Amino acid sequence: MAEPVLIAPSILSADFARLGEEVRAIDAAGADYIHIDVMDGHFVPNLTIGPEVVKALRPHSGKTFDVHLMIAPVDPFIDAFAEAGADIVTVHAEAGPHLHRTLQRIGDLGRKAGVSVNPGTPAAAVEPVLDMVDLILVMSVDPGFGGQSFITSQLDKIRTLRGWIDAQGRPIDLEVDGGIDADTGRQAVAAGANVLVAGTATFAGGPDRYADNIRRLRGG
Ligand code: DX5
Ligand code: ZN
Repeated sequence: MAEPVLIAPSILSADFARLGEEVRAIDAAGADYIHIDVMDGHFVPNLTIGPEVVKALRPHSGKTFDVHLMIAPVDPFIDAFAEAGADIVTVHAEAGPHLHRTLQRIGDLGRKAGVSVNPGTPAAAVEPVLDMVDLILVMSVDPGFGGQSFITSQLDKIRTLRGWIDAQGRPIDLEVDGGIDADTGRQAVAAGANVLVAGTATFAGGPDRYADNIRRLRGG
């Protein structure tokens, strides 16, 4: 697999008082996607960003806005995030009973559709919707907070999903999120991931370090 590894910094670890500036800095430092973590204090035990913030950030970068919705119910908010400028809208398989309908709506809005699975959810949860997704996001921590430790048992799930994606013959990003640094990132890529989300490891040390941090995550 000679696919290039893409880096998606999670702005959850950015300085929220200077968010536009931070997005410009990671864009300039070589980020491929801008990963935006949306939390509702219900599906996950934290509150973060709404569609107005995504809209406000949109002029700050032309890179792919990779919006990770950790909210339930999710359906009432899909249109707002699409209109705010999300390029990829990722929803959790655990977030509601109508995953198929939700993914269909994202596609109808002309956005790329992603599906995410928590560490306790098997790969099989996404099998019935493989034909309609552009991205699968494997959580390698229980979602809610940055700075947690990578759960190694998720590597097997990544390997399984890589096999299914390759058998499909259609490009689907396989993204991993949570506890990613140069070392765990290398393990995730070896297992078949091609997009690495990293909050703590991207933003460590401040803006002068971003380019170097991203280069190291990419394995360079
Ligand atoms: C966790 C979020 C992640 C998180 C990653 O719920 O979905 O995107 O911010 O942060 P790190 O890289 O610090 O584990
Ligand atoms: Zn995320």
